[in-house]
Amino acid sequence: MTERITKNMARNIYFGGSIFVILVFTALTCDTVKKFPELTNEQNITKSVSNGKHLWEVNNCVGCHTIMGEGAYYAPELANAFDRLGGGDDEAFKSYMQGWMAAQPLDIKNRRKMPQFNLTNDEVNDLSNFLIWTSKIDDNEWPPNIEG
Ligand code: HEC
Repeated sequence: MTERITKNMARNIYFGGSIFVILVFTALTCDTVKKFPELTNEQNITKSVSNGKHLWEVNNCVGCHTIMGEGAYYAPELANAFDRLGGGDDEAFKSYMQGWMAAQPLDIKNRRKMPQFNLTNDEVNDLSNFLIWTSKIDDNEWPPNIEG
């Protein structure tokens, strides 16, 4: 005897399956959102870090760079700039950033250029603090390698 799926059974599988998947998805989303303060080290968001994020936005750094994979693919990923350029050392990274931002645009042939933003030392310091904080977000090891 061949058993066939009736219309009723098919409908139950469709709706039952959909509701099950929606519930799992919602539960996982809530779980992730609940962990944000811990994953992002919320307690380390100082005034300087949030000012750095503001500078990051108003200067449209993301128009060329990615940060944690989000943004434009014209220039290097910067979520790991702290580890790549400062070797994980706050002072080394901050002084690299002061030098880097002041030196733009580099006059090197056949190399993509970064504009000069004429930021103050304090502003570059805030941007550095923002990038240091970003590099410590637990984002499942993204980007996968140090070059970004
Ligand atoms: C018009 C595109 C553009 C914008 C906007 C831009 N950058 Fe860049 N940036 C570049 C390019 C291109 C490079 C790579 C230059 C090179 O290697 O000579 C770069 C490199 C860098 C580096 C060095 C990265 C590395 O791994 O060597 C840092 C740090 C950086 N940018 C920070 C910033 C910040 C902060 C902002 C916003 C204030 C910004 N950039 C805005 C194009 C841009």
